Amino acid sequence: MSTSGRTSYNRSFLGYINARFPWLKLVVLILIGIAAILDLLDYTVPRAGETQVKISIAPMSKHVRVIERSLDGKKLVALTFDDGPLATTTPLLLDILESRNVPATFFMLGSMIRSNPEIAKRAAREGHEVASHTMYHQNLIYLSDDAAQADINEAKSVFEEILGEIPSLTRPPYGNYDDNVSRTVNTPMVLWSVDTRDWESRNPDSIVSTALSQAFDGAIILMHDIYETSVAAVPRLIDEMRGSGYEFVTVSELAREHGATLENGVAYRGL
Ligand code: NI
Repeated sequence: MSTSGRTSYNRSFLGYINARFPWLKLVVLILIGIAAILDLLDYTVPRAGETQVKISIAPMSKHVRVIERSLDGKKLVALTFDDGPLATTTPLLLDILESRNVPATFFMLGSMIRSNPEIAKRAAREGHEVASHTMYHQNLIYLSDDAAQADINEAKSVFEEILGEIPSLTRPPYGNYDDNVSRTVNTPMVLWSVDTRDWESRNPDSIVSTALSQAFDGAIILMHDIYETSVAAVPRLIDEMRGSGYEFVTVSELAREHGATLENGVAYRGL
């Protein structure tokens, strides 16, 4: 019986492949190399329509999805969602936003992030802006300076622990702030220009028509991702607003696109 190399290769499938296709190893190495280089270059994968999605394709990358859209000639608005994340509604909203390539800004509560950390991480990973709505949704103007500071600090540490960075924007609960709150928050304060009153109507038709009739270039639209009716309104809201010449950006993108510099302690109702 022969003990040559050729015979021993027959004993394993990989050995056989190696002997039969000696060039295959090189081809696989080259393909892996190309994938790694494309990832380093942040290769942009074009999608249908005007929307482009920049997506990391190498397994070792952070998989942060950056949503890029053509904004030329578009009126820009920022969709903002408060008081979540909630396990029953926020993932549905994220699915909708993903399917339509819409980035939103979430003003999350530290207490809710602590309850649903994976949803908060998913929102950040999928290209949304995740900002602070404080820790416990207290009306900051009625708190002592120390109590307000404690709430803000606790939210900061939850953001740092779960999302890896402290929030760069804050929406004070109820949109209420005074000089003490401005100092305590110490980030730009983002209020809103269009209040859909979704918490009150719980009616998708009313939410869509309010947003459409009150929107303008630079508007910040207030909604809440903790209500099924609000999430149900989003697909039509997106489609109808796009039909009227709007495109969606995060609050920070809106500031950048409109040449505004957001300053700590200053409140913004539109950009
Ligand atoms: Ni709120």
